[in-house]
Amino acid sequence: MNIPAGLAACSRRRFLRQLVGTGALAATGLESLLAQTPPPSPPANASAFRFAFVTDTHLMKDPSFRSDAGIALCLDAVEKLNPRPEFILVGGDLVNRARDMTIREAEQTLDQFLSIWNNHTSLPARWTFGNHDLVGTSNPSVSPADRHYAKGLFQERFHLPHLFYSFDWKGWHFVVLDDIALQPDHTYIGRLFDDELAFIKADLDAHRAMPTIVCTHIPTMSAVPLGLYLAHAAANFQIPTNKNLLCTNANLLFNDFPGHNVRAVLSGHLHHLEKIDSNGVHFVTCGAVCGNYWKGPMLDCPEGFGVVDLGVDGSVAFDYRTYGWKA
Ligand SMILES: [Fe+2]
Repeated sequence: MNIPAGLAACSRRRFLRQLVGTGALAATGLESLLAQTPPPSPPANASAFRFAFVTDTHLMKDPSFRSDAGIALCLDAVEKLNPRPEFILVGGDLVNRARDMTIREAEQTLDQFLSIWNNHTSLPARWTFGNHDLVGTSNPSVSPADRHYAKGLFQERFHLPHLFYSFDWKGWHFVVLDDIALQPDHTYIGRLFDDELAFIKADLDAHRAMPTIVCTHIPTMSAVPLGLYLAHAAANFQIPTNKNLLCTNANLLFNDFPGHNVRAVLSGHLHHLEKIDSNGVHFVTCGAVCGNYWKGPMLDCPEGFGVVDLGVDGSVAFDYRTYGWKA
């Protein structure tokens, strides 16, 4: 990609300040990112290890897509990695359009997903909620009072009293977030919840010394929505803010980054591989296991998953791997 000479000579900090102005930066949370001092050295007990980031599997109800075979092939590829990952971090959208299903259909589809999963990997897994995992929310025949409505089925199957939580692994800290906010009109937007934001702040404070990986389904930072807009450019140029493509209050997450040790934020949702490095934080939106919903690559991004190698020095190396699927 060619960078205009004027921009290449301009530091990222100066460029961003010139681009949107200091006031706007503060409002968006970018000020927090730009102000972040280099992360502290990791503690001596941070280990080097590998995990896999598997997102947007989208198990389809229609068997003609062969999504069951695709998910199995992907998991077989994860299992064959050398070195073998220690666990799988799952980015959400396990099944496709559970919002249109009855409760029974959603139960059967998620249980089919779990059967495929358990038959093809024995690795520990940690689960992130995706918008396609919402159950029955667009199906008028489904009662919101059903315990499996919306997020209930996912929470029950994965034994998650909250869909935001954290865990430690060999000296590293992982924070899994839920940024799927169901709206009164049954659509959704990307948004972190008030109790979740309080949890994040306390959790990051409590793990300040540990190198930390954050995971969301809907990305907190991405240029893909802008690219999509430019690809369909209108005469009136306006930067789009599609509320269901990006997490709309990610600035409140970024506000907690300074003084903490966040090394990477991993997301799914857009089915397109994108890496943004901002002042020591790697923002990765990962391509999808299903590509373009099992119809081939999405915006030229093939079906695949992430391999993440963590170093004792706190480094994060993200590599995207395809697994040989032919739609
Ligand atoms: Fe998805």
